[in-house]
Amino acid sequence: MPSGGAVAYDIMSPSVFLLFLVTVPLLAHSAPSNPLGYFLNCGGSNEVTVDSLKYTPDGSYTKLGTVATINKTDLLPTLSTLRYFPNTASKKFCYSFPVIKGNKYLVKTIYYYGEFDGGKKPPVFDQIVEGTTWSTVDTTEDYAKGLSSYYEVVVMPHGKKLSVCLGRNEHTGSLSPFISALEVKSLDGSLYNPTDFNKYALVSVSRHTFGSEDAISFPDDKFNRMWQPFKDQNPVVASQSNITSSDFWNLPPVKAFSSGITTSKGKALEIQWPPLYLPSTYYYISLYFQDNRHPSPFSWRTFDVSINGHTFYSNLNATSKGVTVYAAQWPLSGLTKITMTPSPGMPVGPMLNAGEVYQILPLGGRTQTRDIITMEDLARSIQNPPRDWNGDPCRPKENSWTGVTCSSQFVARITVVNLTNAGLVGTLPPSIGHLTALSHLWLGGNKLTGTIPDLSGLKELETLHLENNKFEGKLPPSTEKLPKLREISSDMLNKKFDGKATKH
Ligand SMILES: *[C@@H]1O[C@H](CO)[C@@H](O)[C@H](O)[C@H]1NC(C)=O
Ligand SMILES: *[C@@H]1O[C@H](CO)[C@@H](O)[C@H](O)[C@H]1NC(C)=O
Ligand SMILES: *[C@@H]1O[C@H](CO)[C@@H](O)[C@H](O)[C@H]1NC(C)=O
Ligand SMILES: *[C@@H]1O[C@H](CO)[C@@H](O)[C@H](O)[C@H]1NC(C)=O
Repeated sequence: MPSGGAVAYDIMSPSVFLLFLVTVPLLAHSAPSNPLGYFLNCGGSNEVTVDSLKYTPDGSYTKLGTVATINKTDLLPTLSTLRYFPNTASKKFCYSFPVIKGNKYLVKTIYYYGEFDGGKKPPVFDQIVEGTTWSTVDTTEDYAKGLSSYYEVVVMPHGKKLSVCLGRNEHTGSLSPFISALEVKSLDGSLYNPTDFNKYALVSVSRHTFGSEDAISFPDDKFNRMWQPFKDQNPVVASQSNITSSDFWNLPPVKAFSSGITTSKGKALEIQWPPLYLPSTYYYISLYFQDNRHPSPFSWRTFDVSINGHTFYSNLNATSKGVTVYAAQWPLSGLTKITMTPSPGMPVGPMLNAGEVYQILPLGGRTQTRDIITMEDLARSIQNPPRDWNGDPCRPKENSWTGVTCSSQFVARITVVNLTNAGLVGTLPPSIGHLTALSHLWLGGNKLTGTIPDLSGLKELETLHLENNKFEGKLPPSTEKLPKLREISSDMLNKKFDGKATKH
């Protein structure tokens, strides 16, 4: 199934266990030490440092919103300021980051409400990455416990910019979406193979280091992934040797292997993990194992791994160099039980060091790149475009740009631009002729100036309304020859149009 064909993933029978399982050590090509990415202190005016990472003010990456300060002592500096978006007419509010097309990025959003709006309950809203609604942000429970909340997603941008947006949803009402901090980190190419990032994103569910007392993050994890400590009733052991992180595709931090949970000889090791009730869907699962003894020819153990009673991997040989087993798409639902059963005669019990689980999120589509570039060009040549003209023009459908309607394909085309009587001041760029799927262009009743550019590329155009503006001259004559055009606002005409010119 999954990485290839067009199998609709939500209708797959959960009994079909088709897996992509690989054991390592697998040599990843050694990673260049590239910059970590963007670390933003949203709403801040100064650079601040948290856990030896520097967070810069966010103003260069969004033009929208208002900043607020939370007047509480002992807050992390990244949480003590935020940016919020009060405009109730806008459907989304985006940050935009220059990125390398085709690279993978780990996006982390951090929220701490702090009653910035004078209310008692955090606003609930959507977060959107690259045109896909990634999740709802509801920090109510965490906030009641005095905690901040964070969310993570791995995504591969399709163009040279990556957009991260907050969107209004039916729960937001008149409240303002807000954000405290934002990280966008470039991941090495080997991470989370073989997920097809053209179709899916990975949403973090759990990332744990077993048997540890402390969480692990930067600098132990070069991408600042947070590995939370997980302990249960199983015995904890310390490792006597370090793994080589680069032997593993996902580059787990060496420290994540420094402890593990195990059980006594001959017994199965059983854990209930992730410690969450999971919605029924498909997940990327990666488990990390190591024989904790001093390296020697005898420092290995074999065992079977099963998840909820289904074989995940048979006869896994965990050596002191470490090994990982993963499934690119594995169905989980509700609570999860992982069982590691030792092979007969093993002198030591199975052990587990770390694990990661991501929900597989089908991408909701995007706007065709040329249409995006054209619309951004149009947005730049208008002094006062609608405030939500940012991020993907068409997607998510519920958060498309005001006045813009799109086709429904995965790669959407812009079919209608309608900003009648919107008070627009500015000009029409020549590139508007690149919107080759546009059937209706309605910009009547604005204050647009300059000449009307060549529209002969708009082969699908059916209706054209540019009346009541301040254009110089008339329509380029080629416009009237457009094959599908049947309606033009008449004050634009050079001569009698043999379609049905409407009177204005
Ligand atoms: C925090 O204090 C500043 C300065 O005193 C004030 O302008 C701001 O409104 C306060 N913010 C909140 C959320 O109370
Ligand atoms: C593992 O690496 C850490 C950090 O380099 C070092 O402090 C520790 O002693 C190493 N442990 C072993 C068992 O080699
Ligand atoms: C497990 O791996 C070790 C080290 O490569 C090897 O010596 C041992 O024979 C392997 N055990 C099994 C059962 O394959
Ligand atoms: C454009 O918007 C105007 C005003 O909202 C509306 O009357 C008109 O029907 C719309 N045209 C198209 C093609 O959607």
